[in-house]
Amino acid sequence: MKIVKEAKTFNQVDTELLIVGVQKNCDHIKGWNNFISFYGENVEEWIRSGDISTERKKMTKIPYTGLNQKIKRVLFVGLGDTKTLTENELRETFGLVGKQLRALKTNNFTIWLESFTASPIDEQTIAFLFAEGAGLGFYQVPHYKTTSNEVDVYMDEVHFVTDGDIDEIAASYEVGKIYADAVNEARSLVNLPPNLLTATDLANYAEQLAKQYDFEIEILNKADLEELGMGGILSVNKGSTEEPRLITIKYQATEKWEDVVGLVGKGVTYDTGGYSIKSKTGMVGMKGDMGGAAAVLGAMKIIGELRPNKNVVAVIGSTDNMISGDAFKPDDVITTYSGKTVEVLNTDAEGRLVLADAVTYAKQQGANYLIDVATLTGGVITALGYDKTGSLTNNEAFFDSFIEASIETGEFVWGMPLTERDKKRIRKSDIADLNNSPGSDGHMIFAGGFVGEFVGDTPWIHLDIAGTSDASSPYDLGPKGGTGVMVRTLATFIERLGEQLN
Ligand code: BES
Ligand code: ZN
Ligand code: ZN
Repeated sequence: MKIVKEAKTFNQVDTELLIVGVQKNCDHIKGWNNFISFYGENVEEWIRSGDISTERKKMTKIPYTGLNQKIKRVLFVGLGDTKTLTENELRETFGLVGKQLRALKTNNFTIWLESFTASPIDEQTIAFLFAEGAGLGFYQVPHYKTTSNEVDVYMDEVHFVTDGDIDEIAASYEVGKIYADAVNEARSLVNLPPNLLTATDLANYAEQLAKQYDFEIEILNKADLEELGMGGILSVNKGSTEEPRLITIKYQATEKWEDVVGLVGKGVTYDTGGYSIKSKTGMVGMKGDMGGAAAVLGAMKIIGELRPNKNVVAVIGSTDNMISGDAFKPDDVITTYSGKTVEVLNTDAEGRLVLADAVTYAKQQGANYLIDVATLTGGVITALGYDKTGSLTNNEAFFDSFIEASIETGEFVWGMPLTERDKKRIRKSDIADLNNSPGSDGHMIFAGGFVGEFVGDTPWIHLDIAGTSDASSPYDLGPKGGTGVMVRTLATFIERLGEQLN
């Protein structure tokens, strides 16, 4: 990505596509008259007549026939009444611009920043939101079609028309681009077919990431896990011919390893359900059962780029959940890494078993705060649908600061209650400390609450992304498929928490 930093006037623009925001009342924009004289007065008439739509999220592409012969087209982006325009809606609007950029196969373009300003959204914020939103909208799912003759296109080069501080604007744009790239990488992990992304592959990916950003990394294999007695992840892995991996990445920002945030991800690379087997339609899509791991890795990528002043340990438990003569069974009793025993009632409730060991390990590695992210239950979809991540916590103050970050990123998170009665049901077993499937009534809470049994007093947030990690149809910020949900919120939260604690 090349960011061309010089500010230009309309006449100097030397890219094919100029991108202009059109608001319901454009008059308050200082440079509007300049724009009119550059474009020609008919633009005002077209806006009045609706040929250029000012409706929010409506795009109008028009050939440019004025004096600057370099410009081929102008893309007018409807913003509606900017009094009600939120940053989130602007980000989504830019997502649609990103889709246009891909469709136009344009490799460089110019943004007139002022045309998108709305009180209190300034040019620097717009540069950030544009890079993030358009970068997300531009994403395409990698495919394996042998007949395709598509040419690769990239958002290669950006120019700005602005009177503002071009260095600050370019820096904001770069941060937005970092966020989008990390989400897109997480999306691609989720989108990978399960035969091409095993636990070993995921660990290799993490290793490359660690190399790129100079993180400390440890990969535990099956023999290591056996030695440690990680009965949670090992039970889930028992029916598989693929080895499990426990991936630990450390980012140390301060001299002392203190105030450590632990990010824990479910990395089930395929979930057949095991002997509590899923239906043939319920199984399709379970390649995405490592969405939590992808979110954690995506967040680590942003952390690696932006290097906030905060210590982070990421722990990912990765395996598939398969069936064979060796597989674990309902009625098995297993011993987790923490020493707690679990009566297995349902082998499809495997994520919580993997997370139990991963959370225990994260604590052992010094995590003072814990956030686990997992495609954990169908129950969260029943409760909240496909656009809200369900959450639990044991610490309201910690949770409130997380919600602030999620509001900033526009990734909806909703807190669910975890009561003493729920905990009793998780602890109900005649033969073990816990059971892994207390019932199907409100079972999102049982699943997350089970993970909570392993966090002790450590401030903890559980994020169930089963509904939000995979989109069943295209949306403003991306195509159908992996969404990379929580990458941006986790990273934003860690950046902000750094400000609070240091
Ligand atoms: N991986 C699934 C949850 C899931 C469902 C993710 C739909 C994405 C989309 C999880 O391991 C699972 O099977 N959960 C069960 C738990 C039940 C057996 C107690 C569920 O929610 O049905
Ligand atoms: Zn399952
Ligand atoms: Zn699962």
